Amino acid sequence: MSRERLAALLSEKRSYPPPVHGRTQAWISDGEEYEAICRRALEDPEDFWGARASQLLHWFKRWNRVLVADEARHKYRWFTGARLNASFNCIDRHLISGRRNKAALIWQGEQEMDVRCHTYQMLYTEVCRVAHALSSLRIRKGDHVALYMPMIPELIIAMLACARIGAIHVTIFSGYAEGGVRGRIQDSRARIVITADAALRAGKIKPLKANLDPILEKCPSVAHVVVVSHARLNNVSMKSNRDVWWHDLIDDFTLNSDFPCEPMDANDTLFLLHTSGSTGKPTGIMHSTGGYLTYAAHTTQWCFDVRDDDVYWCTADVGWITGHTYGIYGPLALGATTLMFEGVPAWPKPDRYWSIVEKFRVNILYTAPTVIRSLMRLGEAWTERYDLSSLRILGTVGEPINPEAWQWYHKHIGNGELPIVDTWWQTETGGAMISPMPYATKLKPGSAARPLPGIDAAVMDAADTDGEEGREVGRLVIRGPWPGMMLGVFNDEEKYRSYFSRFGCYESGDGAQVDEDGYFWILGRIDDSINVSGHRLSTVEIEAILTACPEVAEAAVVPMPHSLKGEAIYAFVVPREDAPWSEDLRAKLREAVRRDIGPLASPERIQFTRAMPKTSSGKIIRRLLRKIAAGAEDTGDATSLANPEIIADIVRGRKNLIQGKAEDAPAEKDQKID
Ligand code: WTA
Repeated sequence: MSRERLAALLSEKRSYPPPVHGRTQAWISDGEEYEAICRRALEDPEDFWGARASQLLHWFKRWNRVLVADEARHKYRWFTGARLNASFNCIDRHLISGRRNKAALIWQGEQEMDVRCHTYQMLYTEVCRVAHALSSLRIRKGDHVALYMPMIPELIIAMLACARIGAIHVTIFSGYAEGGVRGRIQDSRARIVITADAALRAGKIKPLKANLDPILEKCPSVAHVVVVSHARLNNVSMKSNRDVWWHDLIDDFTLNSDFPCEPMDANDTLFLLHTSGSTGKPTGIMHSTGGYLTYAAHTTQWCFDVRDDDVYWCTADVGWITGHTYGIYGPLALGATTLMFEGVPAWPKPDRYWSIVEKFRVNILYTAPTVIRSLMRLGEAWTERYDLSSLRILGTVGEPINPEAWQWYHKHIGNGELPIVDTWWQTETGGAMISPMPYATKLKPGSAARPLPGIDAAVMDAADTDGEEGREVGRLVIRGPWPGMMLGVFNDEEKYRSYFSRFGCYESGDGAQVDEDGYFWILGRIDDSINVSGHRLSTVEIEAILTACPEVAEAAVVPMPHSLKGEAIYAFVVPREDAPWSEDLRAKLREAVRRDIGPLASPERIQFTRAMPKTSSGKIIRRLLRKIAAGAEDTGDATSLANPEIIADIVRGRKNLIQGKAEDAPAEKDQKID
């Protein structure tokens, strides 16, 4: 973890009390009352979660037990014996609760005039049609359906149609390239892929179906591909008997045909979502129907204080867990209005988000620090021309937010008065774990505040981490189960167990520190992941792509601090003897990563070196490479190295690289570099 981040955080002493205005209507309005809820939830979690599950969801059949725990195998099953359906909870029950004609989904396309709005009734109709259509392709309960789609309403409709049938959706971020998509389809053995002709991104057309076709040659499980005509491309190749247009498929089903919801067991899988694992292959995180949905609804209601007439906007792509939980399942389970935006923050101009806030009078805005930093850089003039006074609550997620970005968000978007909920969580946790309550928590910029009720978070293993005296620093763990916790890792029991192997409880892979008020300060990943612009990437996966290139003998990938992206990718590469250390090779390696995983994984820097720092047993010491990538000249203790002389070489190589010289150019005297 970075000393710089620690130092920056510790120098941040300001704090902000929760707003008074609006507090009386808040779900959680009083700090002391909230403390009491937290205490009770930890004392009697089953009582707490049972009560929340009853309040928030409609159950076809009530549970026998709130929690059945198999401590030895770290298996936790929530609401056992209960039956429910996520699609029913997100749609059907709102049809009779007075929300039938309320906007469930407002969609803003990339083009300003492209707006679609679905009331709950309209969503119901579309979801039933698509459920019929999928069932006509023989999709049944338990089947896997991959969704490789842009941010369009059909994506949400497809997810809810799967949930209705009891099929398991596997969403694949549309920014992934060949390897990322193939790995996820193969791992999940999806029977159907739903995609679009293309995604629209910053004025460009990015073909999806054409990308998919070569990938599918290596995915024998896929029987059909359903294609949404989104960009209206007219040269899409469709394979007969396999590919079908979405509009043709649903056309066969009338607008008034109900599709009854499959009563799912609370512990049936609702979806699979892959995250970058530490093994180089994507890790399929499985989430349950009952526990996950309870947790999604519960955290959406309390962390964002969602009210019935709010317009709630989570900007995350649905391809990530944030889009699942806070773009769809949480808000729709609550009968809220969720806004979906297809485009990007700075296209055609950097005012896009603020124009959308004004246009739809958005009340709750949940976005990522990387977005805030990039917009902050472009100046306040873009925010000032819009009326942002509808906003009531701001949120952030995905990576640690630096205090400067927090202050900018607070001042320029929140008018110096809105609460910012900095929510810490992960794909595996299903929903927010550490977060302020907007109307009940004093905020400290850069801290995600305290664990939510029923979440027993702690920091362990202070010995191997850097910290300030009197404060706990170490690995962030969760000591007990919670309903949003993953059910397991698809087809990889060993990977699931590895989360529990070090401490006997769930280990997050993040470093953290707890201050004297019990506030958590997240310091970022301390495992083999890199968090680029809030997107988790696996170093092992990138290294595997680099070493697959014939010119490369060895590769080691580490994070480097980046002012916009938070972290960026720094690759150290040992070329083979006969391979030139050329710009061509650098470009080729970047291209290989872009082609396989996608542009977001493309290395920021590639440094050639003649060797890696290694232990006597031949293991690369990544800890030292991390320090060098971050700009350290003195990496400290190098006694355990088999080849200590290489360190000075690599430090010099980095300096040369930054100055645009060959890595192996001789050192200049007294050169000073960041
Ligand atoms: C990081 C995203 C600091 C963290 C929901 C975690 C954060 C990883 C925060 C999970 C936050 C997420 N402050 N760091 N508020 N939220 N992270 O699985 O490193 O895509 O482990 O889930 O993002 O990324 P994932």
